[in-house]
Amino acid sequence: MDALNLLKADHRDVETQFRAFERTTGKVTWERAAKAAVRDLSIHAAVEEQIFYPAVTLEVPDLAEIMLRSLEAHNVVEWLCSAIESTSSDDDRFGPRMTVLIDNVRLHVEEEEDDVFPEVRQALSRRRLNELGELLAKAKSAAPTPPHPRLPDTAPAKLLTGVVAGAVDRALDATGRVLHQLTP
Ligand SMILES: [Fe+2]
Ligand SMILES: [Fe+2]
Repeated sequence: MDALNLLKADHRDVETQFRAFERTTGKVTWERAAKAAVRDLSIHAAVEEQIFYPAVTLEVPDLAEIMLRSLEAHNVVEWLCSAIESTSSDDDRFGPRMTVLIDNVRLHVEEEEDDVFPEVRQALSRRRLNELGELLAKAKSAAPTPPHPRLPDTAPAKLLTGVVAGAVDRALDATGRVLHQLTP
């Protein structure tokens, strides 16, 4: 599967959950949509950080700065996700936290889809995009729910070496190539 199509499909799924959250008046659906969005976002962000961003940083150097900015956007999103996970939906802060999360994610997704993905599509071969897609799919299906706790703030190291953990580590080992390329 093409990596960019896989990541875009994730974005659409999360957006569907956001819309369900925004439109519903029923508390059960509201809470369910919020939890599903947070869970899927955590997995999506983790596999982007561990596979896609390091590959882009190395293979499309013009995008290295945007990758660093994207990691910062992820840090904010991850913080909000963990705040939401520890907030009861009865708490007055639950809704506002989700609203801030949704605003941040929409902006970040816009940047990825408008400024990153088209450049990556131009720079990488179809074969390489499919290879990265396979890795992303494997890492996603192996990711625990929720994924491993928030990683320490080591953005540049994450991009240069790919901070891999547990199942993602094994997915990378399975093909060897990305792991090999990411190891200095
Ligand atoms: Fe992202
Ligand atoms: Fe994304």
